Amino acid sequence: ATLVPTVAPVTATATNEQVTSKEVTVLFGSQTGNCHGLAKKVSKRLEDQGFQVVLTSMGDFKPNNLKKIQNLLILVSTHGEGEPPDNAIPFHEFLNSKRAPQLDGLRYSVLALGDTSYEFFCQTGKDFDKRLEELGGKQLVPRVDCDVDFDEPAAEWINQVLGSLKESTGSVVTNGVSSVGILENAESEYSRTNPFQAEVLENLNLNGRGSDRETRHIEISLEGSNLQYEPGDSLGIYPENNARLVDELIAAFGWKTDEQITLHKTGEVRTLRDALLRHFEITVLTKPLLTKLAELTGNSRLKELLAVDHEEELRTYLSERDLLDLVEDYSLQGVDASEFVAQLRKIPARLYSISSSPQAFPDEVHVTVRSVRYEAKGRDRYGVCSVQLAERIQPGDTLPVYIQHNDNFKLPENGDTPIIMIGPGTGVAPFRAFLGEREEAGATGKTWLFYGDQHFATDFLYQLDWQRWLKDGVLTHMDVAFSRDTDKKVYVQHRMLEQSQEIYQWLQNGAVVYVCGDENKMAHDVHAALITILEQEGGLGPAEAVEYLTQMQQKKRYQRDVY
Ligand code: 2AM
Repeated sequence: ATLVPTVAPVTATATNEQVTSKEVTVLFGSQTGNCHGLAKKVSKRLEDQGFQVVLTSMGDFKPNNLKKIQNLLILVSTHGEGEPPDNAIPFHEFLNSKRAPQLDGLRYSVLALGDTSYEFFCQTGKDFDKRLEELGGKQLVPRVDCDVDFDEPAAEWINQVLGSLKESTGSVVTNGVSSVGILENAESEYSRTNPFQAEVLENLNLNGRGSDRETRHIEISLEGSNLQYEPGDSLGIYPENNARLVDELIAAFGWKTDEQITLHKTGEVRTLRDALLRHFEITVLTKPLLTKLAELTGNSRLKELLAVDHEEELRTYLSERDLLDLVEDYSLQGVDASEFVAQLRKIPARLYSISSSPQAFPDEVHVTVRSVRYEAKGRDRYGVCSVQLAERIQPGDTLPVYIQHNDNFKLPENGDTPIIMIGPGTGVAPFRAFLGEREEAGATGKTWLFYGDQHFATDFLYQLDWQRWLKDGVLTHMDVAFSRDTDKKVYVQHRMLEQSQEIYQWLQNGAVVYVCGDENKMAHDVHAALITILEQEGGLGPAEAVEYLTQMQQKKRYQRDVY
C-alpha cells in the first residue's frame, strides 16, 4: 500500500499519454461512397484493436479541431479533372489557405482513390498528403494511390496503418477481423466484391420512335438477396465486353481463342476469350498500361508517345482510343497473350442512380440507362454496359449487381421539407425514386422538378409518372426544357432563371436542392444559375452567393450526383 502514492503519478502520466495517442480521427471525402465504405472498414479494424475512433465526413468536420488531432487518416477520392468530391471541397480549401494551422504534432496517412485513365490520377489525395506534410505532419505510412480495383491496395494500406499505430502506441495485438468484405452491406452477404446474380424482370426503351436517344428502363429483382437501398443510392452492374470486339482483338493480336489464361490474382484458369469477355477491361487505355506494354514489347514508337514532350498527344490518344486501336496503331501483333493480359485492369462495375423507390417496389430495383454509341476512326464504338443492357439483356437473364450506398444524395428526414430537383436526361432517375418514396410516406413537403432533353415527343422520360404525381400533388411544380424543339436552345438552367424569384423564396424557406446528371456542362451551368439567382433575388455579392451555396452544401441542402 505504501508503494501506491509513489508510483501513481508516473502511471497516470503514462496512461494519459497512451489514452490520447490511441485516439484516431478518420476523415473521408466521398462522392460515390467508396471512401466512406473504406473509412468504415478501417474504423472498425481500429476499434477492434482498442483505438478510439472519430469517424467523420470531411463535410461535417470542423477544421479548427485539426490542431487537437494526433492521429489522422484521410480517405479521399478524386473527381473529374482532379477535383475533390463535393463534401471535401471546404476542407481542401481550408488546408490550402493561409488559415491552415501548423501541425507539428500530427501523424497522418492518406488513402487516395482514383482512376488511372484520368490524367490527374488521385490528385486530391496527393494534395492532402503534400499539404499535411508542409504543415509539419509526419506520415504514419506512405500514401497509397488506388486505381478502380482498389480492394487489395486498400486492405494493404489498412494493415500497414494498423501496424504503424499499434507499434507507436505500444498496443497489445488482439485478433483482428479480415478487412475485406465487412460492413459493406451489413444486411446482405452481397457486395461489390461479391455481387448478387439478379434476374432482369423488364427492359424497355423509354424513347419514342425517331429519337436520337435510346434510354433503357430496366427492372431487376433483388428477391432473396437481402439487399437494401434508399432513394439516392446507386446500383453497381458488372458488364461483359462485346463479343465482336473481343474476337476482333484476338484476331488483331494473332492470338488463339482457346489459349488458357491464368488470372493472376485468383489463380483461376480461363480461356483467353472468356477472360477478355468477362474479366478484363479492353475499352479504356491508361498511361500505366501503355508504359507496361512499352516495356514488355520494347516498341520504340510507343515509348516515344510516352515521352514527356508528347504529353498532349498521349492525352488525346488515351481519351479517344481503345485496345484494338492500340494493337493496330503500334503493330503489337505477336505479343504473348498471358503476359499481355496480366497488364490489364479488371473490368469495373458501372454505377447507375437507382430510379425506383424501395417502398413502392419492394424486392426490386430500377435503373435508367442511356445507350452510349458513337463512331470514331471509322469504327462503331459502344458503351460496354449500356449497350450490353440495350442489345443483349432480356427479361429472365441475370446480371451481377450490388448496392452502392450514397449518403451524399438523400431525401431530407422531414417529409415537410421542400425539395427542388434538377435532372435533365437520365439525371432524372433518382427523382423518380424520391417522389415514389414521398408518395408512399404520404409526405406533404412541396416538390419541384426541372427536367430537360432534346424533344418533347420522343424524349420525355417517365412522362406518365410525373403527370400522375402532378395530379396527385406529390409533385407540386414541374418545368421542362426541350432543347431541340425550338430555334434557340433551352436548358434546365434557363427555366430556373425564368423563375428566379420563386426559387429564391423556396431557398429561403429551407428547400433542399438536388442536381443529378452531366457534370461538366449541365451541373456547372446550373451552379452558375443558382449563383445568379442568389445575386439577383437576394442582393448578394458574387462571393456571398458562393458562400451561401457552400453553406447549403455543408448543411446538406445542396446535393449533387453528377457524372
Ligand atoms: P442538347 O443535346 O440539345 O444540347 C439532356 O441530355 C439534355 O441536356 C439535352 O436536352 C441536352 O441538350 C441538354 N444539355 C446539353 N448541354 C447542356 C447544358 N450545358 N446545360 C443544360 N442542359 C444541357
